[in-house]
Amino acid sequence: MDVTVRATSGALRVLIRCAGTAPRVDSSEMPTHPVRLSARACETAGMSALRLTDAVCIVTGASSGIGAATARRLGEAGAIVVLAARRAERLERLAAELPRALAVPTDLTAPGHLERLVEATLAAYGRIDVLVNDAGQGLHVPLLELDPQDLRAVYELNVVAPLRAMQCVFPTMRTQGAGAIVNVSSATSLRVFPGLGGYSSTKAALNMLAQVARLEFAEAGVGVSLVYPSVTATEFHQRLRAGSFAGGAHHIPVDPPELAARAIVFAITSGEAHVLVGDPPRAITPGADDAWGALLARQAPRPGAGSGETVM
Ligand SMILES: NC(=O)c1ccc[n+]([C@@H]2O[C@H](COP(=O)([O-])OP(=O)(O)OC[C@H]3O[C@@H](n4cnc5c(N)ncnc54)[C@H](OP(=O)(O)O)[C@@H]3O)[C@@H](O)[C@H]2O)c1
Repeated sequence: MDVTVRATSGALRVLIRCAGTAPRVDSSEMPTHPVRLSARACETAGMSALRLTDAVCIVTGASSGIGAATARRLGEAGAIVVLAARRAERLERLAAELPRALAVPTDLTAPGHLERLVEATLAAYGRIDVLVNDAGQGLHVPLLELDPQDLRAVYELNVVAPLRAMQCVFPTMRTQGAGAIVNVSSATSLRVFPGLGGYSSTKAALNMLAQVARLEFAEAGVGVSLVYPSVTATEFHQRLRAGSFAGGAHHIPVDPPELAARAIVFAITSGEAHVLVGDPPRAITPGADDAWGALLARQAPRPGAGSGETVM
């Protein structure tokens, strides 16, 4: 299947038609990007922290909510943004609004689409500095009513797709010697909520994949972070795979999507492993003596290290 993608670069607008096999970019020809490591990031186990000017950033779930707000914030910071989701017209409209953006209609659960997203990005810009794994869907039903087919579908989108996206961008980031990956989790993965078992288990699985990726990718200079939004005013609660949102009953304050976008950009630029959405965003440390840090898994001791050592 062909896909039409639109690249906007200031006044220059190019339409690129990518057949199934878009031209591969020889990594030796990749333009160099000034990646700056912050002192704080260097301290945190050599994780990368990126400067956003001219950085090429893929954002999944960019057609609405937190993803669209993140794309806007990255665009304002001078980044080139590659917008991925299924609703093509929305992506085109957002791309036209941003200084430099590329709309790549993508179904993250369809075979070959992630590869095509990466190929289209490399064909247009020659590099990938940032991946924001934002796309996701809720599944808010009590366990006894949980349909395994719904659970499998939401695992495909919330767990398997972000994993595959990390696998797809990693070779390019390794060749560049730098990159930042942010996975959008949920505060529901850090507490136990009846009625949210299906959804929050997908985010708990994502948390573990991302934390392991952070350790496995560190040597290549690729940082991996998790951002934990709370209830956010987006289309999310109207587009649940099944069930309904009972948050109103608990009087949970609702954040604007821009607050989550700010936390995502903070995770990219700081390289922090775990970022709680708030004003301002807050980094949390596994095992730290506070309400959130105590809920995060701690890294297993490295061979030969003292039993209590953690690096995240
Ligand atoms: N809103 C909240 O209260 C809240 C709280 C905590 C965490 N989160 C997390 O935040 C992230 C963003 O959610 P949101 O609140 O911004 O909800 P949203 O407005 O519903 O956005 C979800 C995005 O995911 C995309 N998407 C869904 N299925 C897809 C697929 N198969 N392929 C590609 N893209 C797909 C949607 O685009 P298309 O339909 O166009 O494909 C849309 O852009 C999710 O991971 C969610 O779990 C949300």
